[in-house]
Amino acid sequence: MSKLHLLLYASRISPAVEDVLELTIKDILRISAKRNAACAVTGILIAYRGWFIQALEGPKAAVSQRFNAISRDPRHQDLLLLGQGPTLARVFGNWSMCSSVLSQKDQSVLEILGRKPSFDPSAYPVAKVFQLLTTVAEGQRIAVDVVG
Ligand SMILES: Cc1cc2nc3c(=O)[nH]c(=O)nc-3n(C[C@H](O)[C@H](O)[C@H](O)COP(=O)(O)O)c2cc1C
Repeated sequence: MSKLHLLLYASRISPAVEDVLELTIKDILRISAKRNAACAVTGILIAYRGWFIQALEGPKAAVSQRFNAISRDPRHQDLLLLGQGPTLARVFGNWSMCSSVLSQKDQSVLEILGRKPSFDPSAYPVAKVFQLLTTVAEGQRIAVDVVG
């Protein structure tokens, strides 16, 4: 089995998309479910204060290929690679891609990122951003367990 790779990036949500964010994320999840499942990529996508933050994990070549396709997408801009490297086990393995739109009222965000007047993902250590994603994913896993 090929080694697992993890990639974490942030990007600004394109202004045209802000008004139709939920619908846009639905479209992204639909295509991601197909494409990611086909190449064993899993991950999480969150939207928070004008930014997308996404983690992709899977075989390195597959993660790079998906990231290349994603980085050409006009629905976001100013992509910022926060970090990437080998990883031992999947953290988001329950989903080809799951997502959550967060607000400043979300407890998970407040506890991890603090209450700041503005949000700039590059201002946080990558471990903090990753902690936010894993916390949100854990909440989603519990929700999935409860529902079915
Ligand atoms: C923020 C964001 C996240 C995305 N995440 C994924 C993803 O995880 N997997 C994926 O296949 N496409 C994702 N997409 C969609 C891709 O940009 C692209 O539209 C899709 O993969 C189809 O590309 P292709 O036809 O070249 O394969 C994402 C798009 C955006 C804007």
